[in-house]
Amino acid sequence: MRRCGTTAGGGVGNLALRGVSKRFGSTVVLDDVSLEIGADEFLVVLGPSGCGKSTLLRAIAGLETIDAGEIEIDGARVDHLPPGKRGVAMVFQGYALYPHMTVRGNIAFGLKNIGTERAEIDRRIAAVARMLEIEHLLQRLPAELSGGQRQRVAIGRAIVKDPKVFMFDEPLSNLDAALRSRTRQEIANLHRRIRKAMIFVTHDQTEAMTLADRIVVMNQQRIEQVGTPLQVYREPATIFVATFIGSPAMNILPVTRAAGSGTLQWVRLADGTQIETTASEASLPGQGALRLGLRPESVRLCGLGDGQTKALVDFVEFLGDKTHVLLSLAGGDRLVALDGASCPVHAGESVGVLFDRAATHLFDAEGRNRGLTG
Ligand SMILES: Nc1ncnc2c1ncn2[C@@H]1O[C@H](COP(=O)(O)OP(=O)(O)OP(=O)(O)O)[C@@H](O)[C@H]1O
Ligand SMILES: [Mg+2]
Repeated sequence: MRRCGTTAGGGVGNLALRGVSKRFGSTVVLDDVSLEIGADEFLVVLGPSGCGKSTLLRAIAGLETIDAGEIEIDGARVDHLPPGKRGVAMVFQGYALYPHMTVRGNIAFGLKNIGTERAEIDRRIAAVARMLEIEHLLQRLPAELSGGQRQRVAIGRAIVKDPKVFMFDEPLSNLDAALRSRTRQEIANLHRRIRKAMIFVTHDQTEAMTLADRIVVMNQQRIEQVGTPLQVYREPATIFVATFIGSPAMNILPVTRAAGSGTLQWVRLADGTQIETTASEASLPGQGALRLGLRPESVRLCGLGDGQTKALVDFVEFLGDKTHVLLSLAGGDRLVALDGASCPVHAGESVGVLFDRAATHLFDAEGRNRGLTG
């Protein structure tokens, strides 16, 4: 599996994973994962359920052992150290607050465990409670808090330990949509203020795109691609990344090589339409199936006579600010076009279709993007 940009842009990596693997019995859960995270970088791990995201965080935190590989923090091996000695703090999806302890007790717990003095604990709790605006909640029990308040307490418990690396495992998934978006902004602000390495796990691409300096896209126990939000969107390394990021998903259409292509490869859709891609002829394998990737915003509707091909409108979804138009081509291909708020077409109509050449992606039989220049 190809990996892109697995280093932290040349900076000194605060946290480094090298060839980390983990099995539960005979099931591989992490397969040769390597990654570097800058000392103040916000890294988001994005991937479908079961791909190994939580296991990755738990391995870094020391809550799971690893079967192979190394984990370093600040240049020193930590993979044999117990969780408390690694300098990482984790916010769990369910917050994992102690139900019988007050908010103050929950936040103080980790510090008491490592023998921090009472006066220092009080000073740190006061600072964290002020930062997170939970001063008025310190005497309450978790059961007396809303979901958003519990979430802040869980974050407070992590901050108070002053770790080198913060890890968040889907911390927003229990919140309603409005609170989610507000908390997302608070976490971004928190990062700006404390400038520490953060690893944030989610399967929500909006969270990933808006929070990350870099996104790590995981699939089936492996890293598929590491890159900035724009890189993974514009230059997806694989079909998986291309279709996992972006909504509606990128259209993927089977194509054949077209003749007389010059330096850039032309391809042919099932209906015979020829499309120029950004992949060079030389970058393509000699044989094997090819698939063309086109984002919905790169498929434009036009008058019947003006298009590269024509399509039947199957379905129109008006979303207020934009419109999704589901199309069928004569060869049987189906695709989605993204149009404006006042899209004039209706189901059952025939329309012309134009493809934006600059935004084409060409994937080989293994699903690798052959049109990337980098
Ligand atoms: N203690 C365990 N014993 C056996 N298998 C486990 C254990 N913990 C996790 N797994 C398996 O490892 C795989 C990865 O689990 P993990 O919790 O890391 O996924 P995830 O990416 O965090 O998923 P989700 O998005 O659903 O939280 C899953 O197939 C899961 O069933
Ligand atoms: Mg998980």
